[in-house]
Amino acid sequence: MYSEKVMDHFRNPRNMGEIPDADGVGTVGNPVCGDMMTIYIKVKDNRIADIKFKTFGCGAAIATSSMTTELAKGKTIDEALKITRDDVAKDLGGLPPVKMHCSNLAADALHAAIKDYLAKGGKK
Ligand code: FES
Repeated sequence: MYSEKVMDHFRNPRNMGEIPDADGVGTVGNPVCGDMMTIYIKVKDNRIADIKFKTFGCGAAIATSSMTTELAKGKTIDEALKITRDDVAKDLGGLPPVKMHCSNLAADALHAAIKDYLAKGGKK
């Protein structure tokens, strides 16, 4: 029921971990299932220079976190803010309908980390 790409990101998650001196941190919980995700970003010259995630959640949540970090890395702040849950699901080759809510978590955590960065005085 999962695409090859979802399984690949689930088995070999990219950018998993923590950035201790992150410029922005975003933690969100999924109201549907209670799973949680934190995304850490490092910003340089208005671009996401580094990004890592920690996810307490299902396989789809881990795969979508991994995919989101790959999509966001190297993007400008404005570009990264435009990444939607649909982009994440599409780039993974789709998600089963009952798992679509899992992709909200990744996009929301990314946006929360960027908002945290901007609130701390980061320039847009
Ligand atoms: Fe909770 Fe997937 S079931 S994020």
